Amino acid sequence: MKIAYQKTLPKGASPVFLIKDEDKIERHPFYKTLEKPDQEYLVKFQKNFPVKKEHNHPIVLPSGLKVLLIGLGEKTKFNHRKAILAARRVIVVAKKEKVKNLAIYLDDFLAKENKDNQKALAEVLATQMELANFEFIKYKTPEPSGWFFTQEVNFLSQKPNPSFAEAVTTGQIIGEEINNARNLSNTPGSDMTPKVLAKEAEDLGKKWGIKVQILEEKEIEMLGMGGVLGVARGSSERPKFIIMEYLKGKRGEKPVVLVGKGVTFDTGGLNIKPDDYMYEMHMDMSGGSVALHSIAAMARLKIKKNIVALVPAVENMPSGSSYHPGDVLKTMNGKTIEVLNTDAEGRVILADALEYAKKYKPRLVVDIATLTGSAMSALGQRASAVFSNNARAEQKIIESGEMVGDYAWALPLWEEYEEEIKGTFGDVANSGKTRYGGVITAAVFLWQFIKSDSSANSPQIPWVHIDMAPRMTPTESEFLAKGSTGAPMGLLAQFLRKF
Ligand code: BES
Ligand code: ZN
Ligand code: ZN
Repeated sequence: MKIAYQKTLPKGASPVFLIKDEDKIERHPFYKTLEKPDQEYLVKFQKNFPVKKEHNHPIVLPSGLKVLLIGLGEKTKFNHRKAILAARRVIVVAKKEKVKNLAIYLDDFLAKENKDNQKALAEVLATQMELANFEFIKYKTPEPSGWFFTQEVNFLSQKPNPSFAEAVTTGQIIGEEINNARNLSNTPGSDMTPKVLAKEAEDLGKKWGIKVQILEEKEIEMLGMGGVLGVARGSSERPKFIIMEYLKGKRGEKPVVLVGKGVTFDTGGLNIKPDDYMYEMHMDMSGGSVALHSIAAMARLKIKKNIVALVPAVENMPSGSSYHPGDVLKTMNGKTIEVLNTDAEGRVILADALEYAKKYKPRLVVDIATLTGSAMSALGQRASAVFSNNARAEQKIIESGEMVGDYAWALPLWEEYEEEIKGTFGDVANSGKTRYGGVITAAVFLWQFIKSDSSANSPQIPWVHIDMAPRMTPTESEFLAKGSTGAPMGLLAQFLRKF
């Protein structure tokens, strides 16, 4: 899709009127660009079928011009969150109505919170529109008329500013990279193996000039990553450890390390998942695809920072060579994991990756994982769960999400919970002793592998854990296509650039 900032309404573009309940259509800046009969028609239409609430009215005016009237509800209740949904809704309606090219005023999206920052808003809206224009169609035969996507969005403003053009482009690049991450996550498990994911990382590296290194099983073994090797054992697909280094910041500046869960399919292993619980588990590498494409986005935007992505990629399968419940695995950091449940595999591979991250002396480690069903029980499907040993980083992560409609919510990371994951025959157990608070015990498990020994006197590495399982797929009414949402990449792209 082409997204541009324009000074005037381009020829051939359908004007989109965003209308709050109290708005008079005659006041809208597009109104005066219309021919007289079109104006009269619109006023009459608005009298007979007032655009109220969040209703959509596509109409064709007497001149043949198609316009979209999009209701935003009550003026006093309109806010930034609603603006984000409205941006997606405009595209969903445009697609349904086969509107190829549309024009829209930035000012229409202004809510109290963002009144003074049209530039930041322009960026966010461009991203949202890209996200709404996405569908995973690779495996479907096109309809005879072909797939329909909106091809052009033109933003206008009543307070023009040349910097909006750049903002729109930035937002679009972020949206495109989120969609690329969604493509990887949506790819069926048989076609998205650790090998394929590694190849995707290599291709990205070549395309955007990013250094990529793939560790093969032998090297994984030499590093002592018993967690990665353990989970991978049941599969005929060999594990890969993907390393992407984007070092465009100051020399010697400590990097931010992103660690993404790369389970290309999670059957549960010998603790096999029941019936429909296994269905969407080809998306269990969503954390990994987000980590890789976050770096691609930073590279395309030429951000001057040092950022590294690490993705342990494995397939979790039941077979004669699978790891067993009761197995004790020795991780790279020396701690042993007692496997109580082979379906709690994400934390087992992440344990090794978190240890590997320390090699970079990072200023911050952020892990991203579809880690627990329990996160969904706790939060529903509207926010990722975040945990951190650093209050400031946690707050900035949540704020970043709020800005771009990629929501996250904090849960407690308390030492008391460590009781629940004490191992009997190993140092830490990979699942809690009770069936309560699984999202927290998983986070506390990972914490054991980022913590430095209090005796070692080394400083604690700031770390944020994002359990994105709640956001792996969208809920109804958020105007995103079925399949992967690409979360929490929007949040990360915002966070990595601003903080
Ligand atoms: N990948 C799953 C978690 C998941 C479930 C993500 C649904 C997205 C949607 C993870 O590996 C898993 O199976 N976790 C178990 C852990 C349990 C066995 C301790 C869970 O949450 O049930
Ligand atoms: Zn699992
Ligand atoms: Zn999993």
